[in-house]
Amino acid sequence: MSDYFSAGIDATDPLIGDALTRELHRQQSQIELIASENIVSRAVLDALGHPITNKTLEGYPGHRFHGGGEFVDRIEQAAIDRAKQLFACDYANLQPHSGSQANQAVFFATLSPGDRIVSLNLAAGGHLSHGAGPNQSGRWFDVRHYGVDRDTGLIDYDEVAHIAAEFRPALLIAGGSAYPRAIDFERMRHIADASGALLLVDMAHIAGLVAGGAHASPLPQADIVTCTTTKTLRGPRGGLILARDPAWAEKLQPAIFPGIQGSLHSQIIAAKAVCLGEALHDAFGLYARQVVANARVLARVLIDHGITLVSGGTDTHMVLLDFTGLGVSGQQVQDSLARVNITSNKNPVPFDSSKPSEWVGLRLGVAAATTRGLGEAEFELLGEIIAQAVHDCAGGTEYRAKQNRDRVLSLCEQFPIYG
Ligand SMILES: Cc1ncc(COP(=O)(O)O)c(C=O)c1O
Repeated sequence: MSDYFSAGIDATDPLIGDALTRELHRQQSQIELIASENIVSRAVLDALGHPITNKTLEGYPGHRFHGGGEFVDRIEQAAIDRAKQLFACDYANLQPHSGSQANQAVFFATLSPGDRIVSLNLAAGGHLSHGAGPNQSGRWFDVRHYGVDRDTGLIDYDEVAHIAAEFRPALLIAGGSAYPRAIDFERMRHIADASGALLLVDMAHIAGLVAGGAHASPLPQADIVTCTTTKTLRGPRGGLILARDPAWAEKLQPAIFPGIQGSLHSQIIAAKAVCLGEALHDAFGLYARQVVANARVLARVLIDHGITLVSGGTDTHMVLLDFTGLGVSGQQVQDSLARVNITSNKNPVPFDSSKPSEWVGLRLGVAAATTRGLGEAEFELLGEIIAQAVHDCAGGTEYRAKQNRDRVLSLCEQFPIYG
C-alpha cells in the first residue's frame, strides 16, 4: 500500500500523466487569449492538489453535518471574510461549484417555476445560464431578452426599460460572456426598480477588474451579484455569490445547500481563499489596470489594421472581432491563430447566425497573457499577428504562419509560466 500514498501519476497512470505533461507544455508554449481563462498562482495550485480534497463536509462553518471540519471551517471563514472585504459587501457564499450553479441558486432563492426573467440575449453576449433556450433556466422560467443597438453594439437601455416595463419580470439580469463594454449598473437599477424586479449582476468576466479597481463595482446597485472565480479574478474553477445586504443569507445559504448542492469542494474553497487573498494585495490592482491597458492596445492595433470590433473598442479585458462582410468565419481565424500558437475562440457577434459553424466573430481576452507578464509592446505585436491572420484568411492567401509562430514562441520563452 505504501506506493499508493507516494507514487506519482507518471508511474501509476502513464496515460493521464502523459496528457497532463503535454497540457502543461501546451500552456507554456501558447499565448492564451480565451477571455474566460487565466493562469493561477503556484499557491492556488498547492491548495487544489492538497489532501484537503479528502474531506467531506456539508453545511457552513460552525454548522456542519460531519466531524473533523475545524480546518476547513477556518479556511472557508477566511474565504468569506476576504470576499466581503474585497468586494465591500456583507454577504458572501463561496460554495457554488460553478458560475452556472451560483446563478441557479439565485433563481432557486428568488423565483418559482414560470416566473419572469429579462436578460441579455446570447448573440449579444449573454450567458446560457441567464435563461437561454437549451438551459434549464430557459425551460423553467418565462424569459425575454434584450440586445444591443445594431449600430453601436452597446446595450440598448431604452429597449431594456421598454421590455421590463411591459413584461414586468421578477428578475432583471445584467452581465454576460461576450460584452466588451462597461455596463451602466445605475441605469439597470433604475429599470429594475421601475418594473418591480430584483437586479442580479453576473460579473463573471469582470470580477477581477472590479476587485482590482479597474472597473466599477456592481455591488452598490445590485441586489445580488454572482461570478466565477476563474477568468479575470484568477482563481480556481468555481462560483461565488455576493450581496450588500446580509439579510440575503436567509435565502441564499439554503439555496446552495441543501437547495441545489450537497457537500462543498474543500480543495476549491481553499484555492478560492488563496485567490481572494492575492486579490487583496496592491499588486492585483496593478495587474487589473494592466489588463485594461493591454486590451485597449489590442483593440487599437486591430482597428488600425482595418478590423471591425463590436462596439468599436473595449472597457474590459475583452475585444470582440466582427468579420461580417469579409467572407471569413470565426472558426477559420481561430484555426489560423492556433497554427501560430495563439489560443482563441469563435463567437457570435450581435445578430449573428445561431449556427456556430457560421459565426463571424472571434472573442479575445488579455487576462491570462497579462498575468504572464505581457505588456502593451507585446500586445502591439500580437495585434499585428492577429490582423495578418484575419486578412490572410479573408484574402485566401497563405498565412505567414512560420514567422509568426516563431514570434509567439519567443514571447512564451520571454514570459515563462510554472518554472
Ligand atoms: C457571465 C457568465 N456567467 C456564468 C458563467 C458560467 O460559469 P461556469 O462555466 O463556471 O458554469 C460564465 C462562464 O463563462 C459566464 O461568462
